[in-house]
Amino acid sequence: MRSSAPRARLHFPVTGLRLLSPAMTMRVAVAVSGRGSNLEALLRALADDAPARVVLVVSNRPDAAALDRAREHGVPAEVLSHPADATEWLDRLAHHHVDLLVLAGYLKLVPAAVIARYRDRILNVHPALLPAFGGPGMYGHHVHTAVLASGARESGATVHLVDEAYDRGRILAQGRVPVLPGDTAATLAARVLTVEHRLLPAAVLAAAAAGRPVALPETVESSS
Ligand code: GRF
Repeated sequence: MRSSAPRARLHFPVTGLRLLSPAMTMRVAVAVSGRGSNLEALLRALADDAPARVVLVVSNRPDAAALDRAREHGVPAEVLSHPADATEWLDRLAHHHVDLLVLAGYLKLVPAAVIARYRDRILNVHPALLPAFGGPGMYGHHVHTAVLASGARESGATVHLVDEAYDRGRILAQGRVPVLPGDTAATLAARVLTVEHRLLPAAVLAAAAAGRPVALPETVESSS
């Protein structure tokens, strides 16, 4: 029921350094480990004549449901034989002429040589308001359980650049949701996920428009 739905705010600060002509379609690879709902949101947002498109999905897990979502959209879905092997990553990304790598529920560390090669061109979506509730071990329900245990009154999602440490790179966009009385990790995760599904495509479309990842300049109201 709409009247009781908590409102979420998506807040985007601004920054700069063009890596790609905005007239070109930005070629996006998405790394996944599981369900793939953020991948699905991206595939839908980047359809038709969008300035970016998903050209490759990679996973460390052959059984990731996200791989099937990619295949349903006609996108190459490849399983990394050795997720810690930078050469394999770099070969696959180069083969598909990837401009931007998006981690959407990818649970392993990306090899340092890949981060160095794609410096400032790798995004991650995290289900909390970084820098709080991030870092090693902060994934999945662990994040939301920690938020609830802390007594925080709000949570949300963060899109950030990826560097060599988990969840530490520069923040590009955040969307906030309230923590409600009676919330469980599952109900909070579901509320945050609706924001992730808006925030991540917005960040990728902004990157495509600017030719490089940028902090997003406006505040967006959402009824999710
Ligand atoms: C999302 O909550 C994302 O923030 C986190 O892992 C979850 C992935 O969900 N990193 P999905 O696979 O995109 O459905």
